[in-house]
Amino acid sequence: MPYHHFTGDNLSRSEKVQLWVVNRLLASQVPDGRRESSVQWELKHSSGVIQIARLIAQKRGVDLELAEIAAAMHDIHVIMEGGYTEHAARGAIIARRFLEETGQFDKSEIRKITAAIKNHSNKHEYSKDGLVELVKDADCLDCSLYGDGIYEDKPPEQLKHYYRRIVRVREELGLPRKKQIEERLKALEGTR
Ligand SMILES: [Fe+2]
Ligand SMILES: [Fe+2]
Repeated sequence: MPYHHFTGDNLSRSEKVQLWVVNRLLASQVPDGRRESSVQWELKHSSGVIQIARLIAQKRGVDLELAEIAAAMHDIHVIMEGGYTEHAARGAIIARRFLEETGQFDKSEIRKITAAIKNHSNKHEYSKDGLVELVKDADCLDCSLYGDGIYEDKPPEQLKHYYRRIVRVREELGLPRKKQIEERLKALEGTR
């Protein structure tokens, strides 16, 4: 069977979630003037985080489907409302509501996905939850690929954790070392 390219009625539940997220962006009534990031960037970012989540999930043996879903929805509050304030906790509530409405996910799956969304901004926390850590790392790596300065507005205490994750996940995926980020991390760790 040829790939469906998201047409037709035969989409998997992960694909239905991804389609729903894209449709939230396409249907957004929040103008860019009231957004902290544009609809276009959110579309690029959610797609990018899904792809990186797929790579990390394979590498770490994390459930691929849950990784795709959590990645697709990790910034769902920003996608729907436009702002980053408390967006992780607020996004988890939106995600829970949607996942329950589909009737296709059990309680344990919804708990795992929403935990990953709710905790994804806590880059300074290193938990034992594989899905939670995967979403944080995929988020950091995707953002870092848009330019080295993307996180520079964050306070140093937080920033070092973003850079630490980027350095580690690049190494894990066998990517070349990024001198600029490693030097920045070294300087930030020196200020401890
Ligand atoms: Fe976020
Ligand atoms: Fe994000």
